[in-house]
Amino acid sequence: MTEALIEVHSLVKHYPVPRRGLLEEKLVLRAVDGVSFRIAEGEIFGLVGESGCGKSTTGQLLVQLVKQTQGDIFFQGRRIGAKLSGSELRRLRRDIQIVFQDPYSSLNPKKTIGWTLEEPLIVHRIGDRRTRRTIVAETLEQVGLDPSYASRYPHELSGGQRQRVGIAAALVLSPRFIVIDEAVSALDVSVQAQILNLLKELQQRRGLTYLFISHDLNVVEYISDRIGVMYLGRMAEIFTTGAEGAEPLHPYTRALFSSIPDVRKARERVPLQGEVPSPIHPPAGCAFHPRCPFAMDQCRSLVPELKSVGPGHEVSCHLY
Ligand SMILES: Nc1ncnc2c1ncn2[C@@H]1O[C@H](COP(=O)(O)OP(=O)(O)OP(=O)(O)O)[C@@H](O)[C@H]1O
Ligand SMILES: [Mg+2]
Repeated sequence: MTEALIEVHSLVKHYPVPRRGLLEEKLVLRAVDGVSFRIAEGEIFGLVGESGCGKSTTGQLLVQLVKQTQGDIFFQGRRIGAKLSGSELRRLRRDIQIVFQDPYSSLNPKKTIGWTLEEPLIVHRIGDRRTRRTIVAETLEQVGLDPSYASRYPHELSGGQRQRVGIAAALVLSPRFIVIDEAVSALDVSVQAQILNLLKELQQRRGLTYLFISHDLNVVEYISDRIGVMYLGRMAEIFTTGAEGAEPLHPYTRALFSSIPDVRKARERVPLQGEVPSPIHPPAGCAFHPRCPFAMDQCRSLVPELKSVGPGHEVSCHLY
Protein backbone atom coordinates (compact mmCIF):
# COMPACT_ATOMS: atom_id res chain seq x y z
CA MET A 1 0.00 0.00 0.00
CA THR A 2 1.11 3.56 -0.67
CA GLU A 3 2.10 5.99 2.06
CA ALA A 4 -0.58 6.30 4.75
CA LEU A 5 -2.00 9.79 5.21
CA ILE A 6 -3.62 8.82 8.46
CA GLU A 7 -2.73 5.99 10.78
CA VAL A 8 -4.51 4.88 13.92
CA HIS A 9 -2.93 2.59 16.53
CA SER A 10 -4.96 0.84 19.26
CA LEU A 11 -7.28 3.80 19.63
CA VAL A 12 -9.46 3.73 22.75
CA LYS A 13 -12.21 6.09 23.91
CA HIS A 14 -13.94 5.28 27.19
CA TYR A 15 -16.72 7.41 28.62
CA PRO A 16 -17.35 7.30 32.37
CA VAL A 17 -20.85 6.12 33.28
CA PRO A 18 -22.49 8.40 35.87
CA ARG A 19 -22.83 6.56 39.19
CA ARG A 20 -26.30 6.44 40.70
CA GLY A 21 -25.07 5.80 44.23
CA LEU A 22 -21.82 6.35 46.10
CA LEU A 23 -21.34 2.65 46.62
CA GLU A 24 -21.96 1.76 43.02
CA GLU A 25 -19.03 0.44 41.05
CA LYS A 26 -17.26 2.88 38.68
CA LEU A 27 -18.15 1.84 35.15
CA VAL A 28 -16.98 2.90 31.72
CA LEU A 29 -18.65 2.77 28.35
CA ARG A 30 -16.23 1.43 25.75
CA ALA A 31 -17.20 3.59 22.76
CA VAL A 32 -13.99 2.74 20.89
CA ASP A 33 -12.02 -0.15 22.30
CA GLY A 34 -8.70 -0.67 20.52
CA VAL A 35 -9.05 0.19 16.85
CA SER A 36 -6.16 0.23 14.35
CA PHE A 37 -6.26 1.14 10.67
CA ARG A 38 -4.52 3.25 8.07
CA ILE A 39 -5.88 5.31 5.22
CA ALA A 40 -3.73 5.95 2.16
CA GLU A 41 -3.50 9.35 0.53
CA GLY A 42 -6.37 9.69 -1.97
CA GLU A 43 -8.32 6.77 -0.54
CA ILE A 44 -11.95 6.62 0.57
CA PHE A 45 -12.17 4.44 3.67
CA GLY A 46 -15.72 3.52 4.66
CA LEU A 47 -16.78 2.76 8.21
CA VAL A 48 -19.90 0.68 8.84
CA GLY A 49 -21.57 -1.18 11.68
CA GLU A 50 -24.77 -1.14 13.72
CA SER A 51 -25.83 1.93 15.70
CA GLY A 52 -23.60 2.59 18.71
CA CYS A 53 -20.61 0.57 17.50
CA GLY A 54 -18.32 3.61 17.68
CA LYS A 55 -18.21 4.97 14.12
CA SER A 56 -18.86 8.63 14.99
CA THR A 57 -16.58 8.48 18.02
CA THR A 58 -13.77 7.22 15.78
CA GLY A 59 -14.41 10.12 13.38
CA GLN A 60 -14.49 12.65 16.24
CA LEU A 61 -11.18 11.28 17.54
CA LEU A 62 -9.55 11.72 14.13
CA VAL A 63 -10.57 15.39 13.98
CA GLN A 64 -9.78 15.70 17.72
CA LEU A 65 -13.26 16.90 18.66
CA VAL A 66 -12.78 14.42 21.49
CA LYS A 67 -9.51 13.23 23.03
CA GLN A 68 -8.61 9.57 23.09
CA THR A 69 -8.32 7.65 26.34
CA GLN A 70 -5.43 5.65 24.87
CA GLY A 71 -3.74 5.03 21.54
CA ASP A 72 -2.12 7.12 18.84
CA ILE A 73 -3.20 8.93 15.71
CA PHE A 74 -0.62 9.88 13.09
CA PHE A 75 -1.31 12.37 10.31
CA GLN A 76 1.41 12.49 7.63
CA GLY A 77 3.61 10.53 10.00
CA ARG A 78 3.26 13.04 12.86
CA ARG A 79 1.47 12.17 16.07
CA ILE A 80 -1.61 14.31 16.68
CA GLY A 81 -3.39 14.79 19.95
CA ALA A 82 -0.04 14.95 21.67
CA LYS A 83 1.78 18.18 22.38
CA LEU A 84 1.66 20.24 19.22
CA SER A 85 2.84 23.81 18.88
CA GLY A 86 0.25 26.52 18.14
CA SER A 87 1.19 26.70 14.47
CA GLU A 88 1.16 22.90 14.08
CA LEU A 89 -2.29 22.78 15.64
CA ARG A 90 -3.57 25.52 13.31
CA ARG A 91 -2.15 23.66 10.32
CA LEU A 92 -3.92 20.50 11.50
CA ARG A 93 -7.20 22.37 11.96
CA ARG A 94 -6.95 23.34 8.29
CA ASP A 95 -5.87 19.97 6.98
CA ILE A 96 -8.50 17.84 8.74
CA GLN A 97 -12.20 18.69 8.41
CA ILE A 98 -15.55 17.06 9.18
CA VAL A 99 -18.96 17.05 7.49
CA PHE A 100 -21.93 16.14 9.69
CA GLN A 101 -25.29 14.54 9.03
CA ASP A 102 -27.30 17.65 9.81
CA PRO A 103 -25.70 20.81 8.43
CA TYR A 104 -28.67 22.82 9.70
CA SER A 105 -27.51 22.45 13.28
CA SER A 106 -23.98 23.52 12.40
CA LEU A 107 -25.08 26.51 10.29
CA ASN A 108 -25.83 29.72 12.15
CA PRO A 109 -29.46 30.59 11.24
CA LYS A 110 -28.81 34.31 11.67
CA LYS A 111 -25.78 34.41 9.38
CA THR A 112 -25.59 34.26 5.60
CA ILE A 113 -23.96 31.33 3.82
CA GLY A 114 -21.20 33.71 2.70
CA TRP A 115 -20.47 34.66 6.31
CA THR A 116 -20.35 31.00 7.36
CA LEU A 117 -17.88 30.17 4.60
CA GLU A 118 -15.73 33.27 5.09
CA GLU A 119 -15.38 32.97 8.85
CA PRO A 120 -12.85 30.09 8.88
CA LEU A 121 -10.72 32.03 6.38
CA ILE A 122 -10.72 35.02 8.73
CA VAL A 123 -9.86 32.84 11.72
CA HIS A 124 -6.94 31.33 9.81
CA ARG A 125 -5.91 34.77 8.49
CA ILE A 126 -6.18 33.75 4.86
CA GLY A 127 -6.23 36.50 2.22
CA ASP A 128 -7.72 39.96 2.30
CA ARG A 129 -11.43 40.55 2.06
CA ARG A 130 -11.49 40.38 -1.72
CA THR A 131 -9.45 37.16 -1.91
CA ARG A 132 -11.68 35.58 0.71
CA ARG A 133 -14.83 36.47 -1.23
CA THR A 134 -13.29 34.94 -4.35
CA ILE A 135 -12.47 31.72 -2.44
CA VAL A 136 -16.05 31.60 -1.11
CA ALA A 137 -17.52 32.08 -4.61
CA GLU A 138 -15.24 29.42 -6.10
CA THR A 139 -16.03 26.97 -3.32
CA LEU A 140 -19.78 27.50 -3.80
CA GLU A 141 -19.36 26.77 -7.51
CA GLN A 142 -17.36 23.63 -6.76
CA VAL A 143 -20.22 22.23 -4.68
CA GLY A 144 -22.71 23.07 -7.42
CA LEU A 145 -24.20 26.26 -5.97
CA ASP A 146 -24.35 29.62 -7.69
CA PRO A 147 -22.07 32.19 -5.96
CA SER A 148 -25.21 34.31 -5.33
CA TYR A 149 -26.04 31.78 -2.57
CA ALA A 150 -23.49 33.64 -0.44
CA SER A 151 -26.18 36.19 0.44
CA ARG A 152 -28.80 33.60 1.39
CA TYR A 153 -29.72 32.28 4.84
CA PRO A 154 -29.81 28.60 5.85
CA HIS A 155 -33.63 28.49 6.10
CA GLU A 156 -33.91 29.50 2.43
CA LEU A 157 -32.15 26.31 1.31
CA SER A 158 -33.33 22.73 0.73
CA GLY A 159 -31.77 19.83 2.64
CA GLY A 160 -29.55 18.94 -0.31
CA GLN A 161 -28.43 22.56 -0.75
CA ARG A 162 -27.65 22.83 2.96
CA GLN A 163 -25.52 19.71 2.74
CA ARG A 164 -23.69 21.29 -0.20
CA VAL A 165 -22.98 24.28 2.07
CA GLY A 166 -21.80 21.86 4.78
CA ILE A 167 -19.37 20.37 2.25
CA ALA A 168 -18.28 23.84 1.11
CA ALA A 169 -17.57 24.77 4.74
CA ALA A 170 -15.32 21.72 5.03
CA LEU A 171 -13.56 22.55 1.74
CA VAL A 172 -12.97 26.25 2.14
CA LEU A 173 -9.66 25.83 3.98
CA SER A 174 -8.40 23.33 1.34
CA PRO A 175 -8.00 20.36 3.69
CA ARG A 176 -6.25 17.07 2.88
CA PHE A 177 -8.51 14.77 4.87
CA ILE A 178 -12.27 14.92 5.56
CA VAL A 179 -14.35 12.84 7.95
CA ILE A 180 -17.83 12.50 6.45
CA ASP A 181 -20.26 11.32 9.12
CA GLU A 182 -23.65 10.16 7.80
CA ALA A 183 -23.65 13.15 5.45
CA VAL A 184 -26.33 11.75 3.14
CA SER A 185 -28.37 9.74 5.65
CA ALA A 186 -31.07 12.38 6.13
CA LEU A 187 -31.54 13.11 2.42
CA ASP A 188 -34.00 11.72 -0.14
CA VAL A 189 -32.56 8.93 -2.27
CA SER A 190 -32.28 11.05 -5.43
CA VAL A 191 -30.55 13.90 -3.57
CA GLN A 192 -28.35 11.31 -1.83
CA ALA A 193 -27.02 10.17 -5.19
CA GLN A 194 -26.24 13.75 -6.25
CA ILE A 195 -24.34 14.48 -3.04
CA LEU A 196 -22.45 11.17 -3.22
CA ASN A 197 -21.39 11.92 -6.78
CA LEU A 198 -20.35 15.41 -5.77
CA LEU A 199 -18.22 14.02 -2.92
CA LYS A 200 -16.59 11.51 -5.25
CA GLU A 201 -15.92 14.15 -7.91
CA LEU A 202 -14.39 16.55 -5.34
CA GLN A 203 -12.26 13.75 -3.94
CA GLN A 204 -10.85 13.01 -7.40
CA ARG A 205 -10.42 16.61 -8.49
CA ARG A 206 -8.74 17.72 -5.28
CA GLY A 207 -6.93 14.47 -4.43
CA LEU A 208 -8.74 14.29 -1.09
CA THR A 209 -8.80 11.46 1.43
CA TYR A 210 -12.04 10.56 3.20
CA LEU A 211 -13.18 8.60 6.21
CA PHE A 212 -16.74 7.95 5.07
CA ILE A 213 -19.07 6.91 7.90
CA SER A 214 -22.52 5.49 7.21
CA HIS A 215 -24.86 2.85 8.51
CA ASP A 216 -26.11 2.45 4.92
CA LEU A 217 -24.16 -0.44 3.41
CA ASN A 218 -25.19 0.33 -0.18
CA VAL A 219 -23.90 3.88 0.12
CA VAL A 220 -20.63 2.82 1.74
CA GLU A 221 -20.01 0.05 -0.77
CA TYR A 222 -20.68 2.47 -3.62
CA ILE A 223 -18.26 5.18 -2.56
CA SER A 224 -15.46 3.39 -0.65
CA ASP A 225 -12.19 1.83 -1.81
CA ARG A 226 -11.95 -0.14 1.43
CA ILE A 227 -14.44 -0.73 4.22
CA GLY A 228 -13.85 -1.15 7.93
CA VAL A 229 -16.59 -3.03 9.78
CA MET A 230 -16.94 -2.08 13.45
CA TYR A 231 -18.59 -4.10 16.15
CA LEU A 232 -18.85 -2.88 19.76
CA GLY A 233 -15.93 -0.49 19.50
CA ARG A 234 -13.62 -2.90 17.68
CA MET A 235 -12.72 -3.55 14.06
CA ALA A 236 -14.15 -6.88 12.93
CA GLU A 237 -12.84 -6.74 9.39
CA ILE A 238 -11.26 -4.47 6.80
CA PHE A 239 -11.79 -5.41 3.15
CA THR A 240 -11.32 -3.97 -0.33
CA THR A 241 -14.42 -3.30 -2.40
CA GLY A 242 -14.92 -3.79 -6.13
CA ALA A 243 -13.62 -6.38 -8.55
CA GLU A 244 -10.15 -6.67 -7.04
CA GLY A 245 -11.49 -7.16 -3.52
CA ALA A 246 -11.96 -10.56 -1.91
CA GLU A 247 -15.24 -11.66 -0.35
CA PRO A 248 -15.58 -10.59 3.30
CA LEU A 249 -14.99 -13.42 5.75
CA HIS A 250 -16.06 -12.32 9.22
CA PRO A 251 -19.43 -13.84 10.18
CA TYR A 252 -20.56 -10.37 11.30
CA THR A 253 -19.67 -8.76 7.96
CA ARG A 254 -21.36 -11.58 6.07
CA ALA A 255 -24.47 -11.23 8.20
CA LEU A 256 -24.57 -7.44 7.79
CA PHE A 257 -24.13 -7.50 4.03
CA SER A 258 -26.37 -10.49 3.39
CA SER A 259 -29.31 -8.35 4.52
CA ILE A 260 -28.97 -6.31 1.32
CA PRO A 261 -30.91 -8.07 -1.42
CA ASP A 262 -29.07 -6.84 -4.52
CA VAL A 263 -25.50 -6.33 -3.53
CA ARG A 264 -23.16 -9.34 -3.58
CA LYS A 265 -25.87 -11.82 -4.48
CA ALA A 266 -23.61 -14.82 -4.54
CA ARG A 267 -22.88 -14.54 -0.84
CA GLU A 268 -24.33 -17.17 1.39
CA ARG A 269 -26.97 -15.69 3.67
CA VAL A 270 -26.19 -15.58 7.38
CA PRO A 271 -29.03 -14.16 9.45
CA LEU A 272 -28.06 -11.64 12.12
CA GLN A 273 -29.69 -12.72 15.35
CA GLY A 274 -30.18 -11.03 18.69
CA GLU A 275 -29.30 -7.57 19.95
CA VAL A 276 -26.00 -5.72 20.20
CA PRO A 277 -24.68 -6.18 23.78
CA SER A 278 -23.99 -3.15 25.98
CA PRO A 279 -20.65 -1.41 25.48
CA ILE A 280 -20.56 -1.08 29.29
CA HIS A 281 -20.50 -4.86 29.71
CA PRO A 282 -19.11 -6.24 26.44
CA PRO A 283 -18.94 -10.04 26.20
CA ALA A 284 -15.57 -11.65 27.02
CA GLY A 285 -13.48 -12.98 24.15
CA CYS A 286 -14.83 -12.07 20.74
CA ALA A 287 -17.56 -9.49 21.37
CA PHE A 288 -19.61 -11.02 18.54
CA HIS A 289 -19.59 -14.58 19.91
CA PRO A 290 -23.08 -14.53 21.54
CA ARG A 291 -24.59 -13.78 18.11
CA CYS A 292 -22.21 -15.84 15.99
CA PRO A 293 -23.50 -19.11 14.45
CA PHE A 294 -19.90 -20.38 14.21
CA ALA A 295 -18.74 -19.58 17.77
CA MET A 296 -16.21 -22.03 19.20
CA ASP A 297 -14.90 -22.46 22.76
CA GLN A 298 -11.97 -20.07 22.37
CA CYS A 299 -14.28 -17.33 21.04
CA ARG A 300 -15.81 -17.05 24.51
CA SER A 301 -12.52 -16.22 26.23
CA LEU A 302 -9.89 -15.10 23.73
CA VAL A 303 -10.11 -11.73 21.96
CA PRO A 304 -9.27 -12.33 18.28
CA GLU A 305 -6.63 -10.03 16.80
CA LEU A 306 -6.98 -8.30 13.46
CA LYS A 307 -4.91 -10.49 11.09
CA SER A 308 -3.97 -9.97 7.47
CA VAL A 309 -5.61 -12.61 5.27
CA GLY A 310 -4.77 -11.15 1.86
CA PRO A 311 -3.96 -7.88 0.12
CA GLY A 312 -6.05 -5.08 1.64
CA HIS A 313 -7.92 -7.63 3.74
CA GLU A 314 -7.77 -8.05 7.53
CA VAL A 315 -10.11 -10.00 9.75
CA SER A 316 -10.38 -10.53 13.49
CA CYS A 317 -11.98 -13.94 13.86
CA HIS A 318 -10.72 -17.26 15.27
CA LEU A 319 -12.04 -19.08 12.19
CA TYR A 320 -9.20 -17.63 10.14
N1 LIG B 1 -20.22 12.01 24.60
C1 LIG B 1 -20.57 10.77 24.96
N2 LIG B 1 -20.75 10.45 26.26
C2 LIG B 1 -21.09 9.19 26.62
N3 LIG B 1 -21.27 8.17 25.76
C3 LIG B 1 -21.11 8.43 24.44
C4 LIG B 1 -20.76 9.73 23.97
N4 LIG B 1 -20.68 9.69 22.61
C5 LIG B 1 -20.97 8.42 22.27
N5 LIG B 1 -21.23 7.66 23.35
C6 LIG B 1 -21.56 6.22 23.35
O1 LIG B 1 -20.52 5.57 22.66
C7 LIG B 1 -21.03 4.50 21.89
C8 LIG B 1 -20.62 4.72 20.45
O2 LIG B 1 -21.31 5.85 19.94
P1 LIG B 1 -21.10 6.39 18.46
O3 LIG B 1 -21.91 7.62 18.35
O4 LIG B 1 -19.66 6.48 18.16
O5 LIG B 1 -21.75 5.23 17.60
P2 LIG B 1 -22.13 5.18 16.05
O6 LIG B 1 -21.54 3.91 15.51
O7 LIG B 1 -21.76 6.44 15.40
O8 LIG B 1 -23.73 5.01 16.07
P3 LIG B 1 -24.86 5.59 15.08
O9 LIG B 1 -24.89 4.65 13.89
O10 LIG B 1 -26.10 5.48 15.88
O11 LIG B 1 -24.50 6.99 14.72
C9 LIG B 1 -22.55 4.49 22.09
O12 LIG B 1 -22.85 3.54 23.07
C10 LIG B 1 -22.83 5.90 22.57
O13 LIG B 1 -23.97 5.93 23.40
MG1 LIG C 1 -22.84 7.98 14.42
